[in-house]
Amino acid sequence: MKDKTLQIAIKVYDFSELPAEDQSLLHMAKEATYRSYAPYSHFSVGAAALLENGETVSGSNQENAAYPSGICAERTTLFYANSRYPDQAVTTLAIAARNERGEFLPTPIPPCGACRQVMLETEARARRPMRILLYGTAEVYELQGVSSLLPLSFSASAMQ
Ligand code: THU
Repeated sequence: MKDKTLQIAIKVYDFSELPAEDQSLLHMAKEATYRSYAPYSHFSVGAAALLENGETVSGSNQENAAYPSGICAERTTLFYANSRYPDQAVTTLAIAARNERGEFLPTPIPPCGACRQVMLETEARARRPMRILLYGTAEVYELQGVSSLLPLSFSASAMQ
C-alpha cells in the first residue's frame, strides 16, 4: 500500500485586487443571477464566460417543476458558449450566486459535480486551461484550471 495525495491550488483575492477584466466578468456573472429562473430553490446562480476571441456570454440556472429537467448556470453558459462559438476556447468562467434572501454570500459557492465534469470537457476540447473565478463578497477564489476543481477526474482519455 502507498498513499497518494492530490493537491489543488486556489488563489484568494479581495474583489478590489483583481484586474479590471476579471472584475467586469464577475460583474456579468452577478448580473446574470437576476435572470435566473429559480422558483423552487430560490437560489439564483449566474455565470459568465470570456472567450478567446474576446466575446463574453452569460447564463443562469433554469429550474423546472420536474426538478431534474432544470440546469445549472455553469452548464447553461458553457453549452451556449460552445454552441455559439464552437472553435473558441473559454479562457475564464466567472460564477456568482445569491441565496433565498437575494444576498450574495461572503464565501464563494463551489460548482456542483455535474458542472465540474462539463467544465472539464470544455477545457479538454479547447486544449487550454480554463480559469475559474468564484465570487463571494468577502473573497474571490481563482482556480487556474478545471483540474483544481476536479482532481482525479474521468475524461475520454481514461477510456483509451
Ligand atoms: N446551481 C447552479 O446553478 N450551479 C451550481 O453549481 C450549483 C447549483 C443551481 C441548481 C438549482 O437551480 C439551484 O442552484 C439549487 O441547487
